[in-house]
Amino acid sequence: MNIVIKKQELINEIITKDIFNLIIKKDNCVLGLATGTTPLGVYKRICDTFKDKVSFKNVKTFNLDEYYGLDKSDINSYHHFMYENLFSKIDIDLNNTYFPNDIACNNYSLYDELIKSNGGIDYQILGIGRNGHIGFNEPGTSFLSLTHISELQDSTINDNARFFSSKDDVPSKAITMGLKSIMNAKKIVIIAFGKNKALAINRLINGQVDEKMPASILKYHKNVTLFLDEDAAKKLK
Ligand code: F6R
Repeated sequence: MNIVIKKQELINEIITKDIFNLIIKKDNCVLGLATGTTPLGVYKRICDTFKDKVSFKNVKTFNLDEYYGLDKSDINSYHHFMYENLFSKIDIDLNNTYFPNDIACNNYSLYDELIKSNGGIDYQILGIGRNGHIGFNEPGTSFLSLTHISELQDSTINDNARFFSSKDDVPSKAITMGLKSIMNAKKIVIIAFGKNKALAINRLINGQVDEKMPASILKYHKNVTLFLDEDAAKKLK
């Protein structure tokens, strides 16, 4: 796993450039996208700078996860998040943007089939939870998991309550790409910003590959870069 420690703005710039270069090489590339606070800077930079550089007309996107039971139009849905923070501000065709709950709910692993039939994810963006989750794969999720429904842990519900009017409104379940689904991506970037991620990053780097630390599976992937700001890297020294 490559590790890059830089200021947040620089990391956002590097990842944006990476994505633009990929689109220049392959205009119908497939991006895997995360929600949450961490990738917001990348999305903003893409929106502010894509014009005159690239077009997203032929790009396809697959989001990692969505809350279970929330309507697409709900302001807390990840559909809404992506529309507000990225899709409405670039020239992407919304028919090329996919979410795991768009799939027949009796077999979510069809999402993995859909990704595969579109050529697989070329570039996957990940954040990380304080408990080491990626997507909504909470500690204990099988490394062999495909897209599935997951039960959110209390720490995740608490962390995400900031987006809702109260903790009780946070859905207790989500549909998420599995760990095996994520590992199928050709290139992965995982980003961690802020001191509240420092402990998870220390466990990721210095700990074992273990299902108790879902992100640790990334150590088995051959093309992963971990981007950290100084605060997230603090406990590594
Ligand atoms: C969201 C996702 C989650 C987040 C993680 C960190 O689509 O996949 O794994 O990346 O919970 O969230 P933030 O960035 O809000 O700290």
